[in-house]
Amino acid sequence: MNNNIIVAIDGYSSCGKSTLAKALAKKLHYIYVDSGAMYRAVTLYFLRNNIDLTNHAQIEEALKNIHLNFHSRDYETHITLNDEEVSEEVRQMPVSEKVSAVAALKEVRREMVKQQQRMGKSKNIVMDGRDIGTAVFPHAPLKIFMTADPKIRAERRYNEIHAKNPEVTLEDIFENIAHRDYQDTTREESPLVRADDAIILDNTNITPEQQLQFALDKIEALKG
Ligand code: DC
Repeated sequence: MNNNIIVAIDGYSSCGKSTLAKALAKKLHYIYVDSGAMYRAVTLYFLRNNIDLTNHAQIEEALKNIHLNFHSRDYETHITLNDEEVSEEVRQMPVSEKVSAVAALKEVRREMVKQQQRMGKSKNIVMDGRDIGTAVFPHAPLKIFMTADPKIRAERRYNEIHAKNPEVTLEDIFENIAHRDYQDTTREESPLVRADDAIILDNTNITPEQQLQFALDKIEALKG
């Protein structure tokens, strides 16, 4: 029954997790799930509805009113929040600035992890995030922990979003990444940490093609 394959990719912000996860899913014909987009969509809802992050009853109530769905087109993430397509909006700065605080909330994590585990029940999936190999799928047969030089990460992200957001500076992005790294690794609930059995992939000096090949080789080795 449950012999579907799960590839868990964790790591710091903006170090190419989704690039690798998408490429792998495409190559292997697996489903790609961007777990960060779920925390981002919850954050968007909280921002729009002025949810007080210290009010636990309000948070629980809000979570009941949030319905998330993924629609995969060409392995790109299309996420809907209560049937509204929010894929673009969740990647903007207002959400990026608040998402780590929202992702640190126990109630939010409990609900997201439950939904993520449900997605992995019957399908082969590649999921990327911060706690996929530790909390969501601790038994995933392949876990990759990604890292890269923070300056390179900021430059890559800047090049990605600069055309659409010319007002955002490289310094803003660097600070946002540093801030998220700090919050993600020091929070109480499932902090970002490498699972003992995760393979480290530092992509500071390698191309997306090389990192894909690295992961494909690991998958081949599992089969062999
Ligand atoms: O991968 P991303 O940058 O889109 O993730 C957005 C935020 O969500 C990030 O700051 C940490 C949080 N996150 C998390 O806590 N757990 C996950 N599985 C995925 C993301």
